[in-house]
Amino acid sequence: MKVLIINGSPRRNGNTSVALNEIANTLEQEGIESEIVWIGNKPVRGCIACDKCKENPGRCVFNDDICNEISSKYAGADALIVGSPVYFGQPNGALLSVIQRSFHSNGGSISGKPAAAVAVCRRGGSSAAFETLNLPFQMMNMPIVASQYWNIVFGREAGQAVLDLEGLQTMRALAHNMAWLLKATGGQKAPGRGEEPWIPTHFIR
Ligand SMILES: Cc1cc2nc3c(=O)[nH]c(=O)nc-3n(C[C@H](O)[C@H](O)[C@H](O)COP(=O)(O)O)c2cc1C
Repeated sequence: MKVLIINGSPRRNGNTSVALNEIANTLEQEGIESEIVWIGNKPVRGCIACDKCKENPGRCVFNDDICNEISSKYAGADALIVGSPVYFGQPNGALLSVIQRSFHSNGGSISGKPAAAVAVCRRGGSSAAFETLNLPFQMMNMPIVASQYWNIVFGREAGQAVLDLEGLQTMRALAHNMAWLLKATGGQKAPGRGEEPWIPTHFIR
């Protein structure tokens, strides 16, 4: 089984990387493969709601950034972990764009798979960013894996997160819980509504 881990920081080897590496190493000890993909630091477009992805399922119409490269890995993953630095109490905007566009264009490849978010900050705003990252999982039937605390790690300059011993322990506990769930379910996706058709009412009466 394999966990796809997205490093949503423009700093490839920053504190988000420290947190996610702790997860990857623990998963490896558990016999679970993982792949960390880096969002990079090049421009990422926002969703323009063109719905061209409905004509060409699985791919966003914009092919000039990292979005399709990341979402092409969804089908081969049994679970997803997304890590982000905290910017003004929010996740990195580029990461949010990738999540929104890839879930809209290729949601069928990731829905129902266990997920977790990690927020990394200097001092504050991590709870809000963590909650924001969890929101898409909850409308994609993705069981959210918990840890001993919110998945938050502290650090400012790149690498300082190694000093946050409790934060790193929280990452290890998260990885153990993720491994436990994957082994218990055999990597099966959550069923959601199954064969029942969607009833979209859009609050229109
Ligand atoms: C534009 C910007 C906004 C930031 N906003 C916050 C913030 O609201 N709260 C906070 O605690 N740290 C904030 N930080 C600090 C980063 O979250 C912190 O340095 C983090 O470790 C960066 O993770 P990285 O090394 O993976 O990039 C901000 C940093 C930048 C560049």
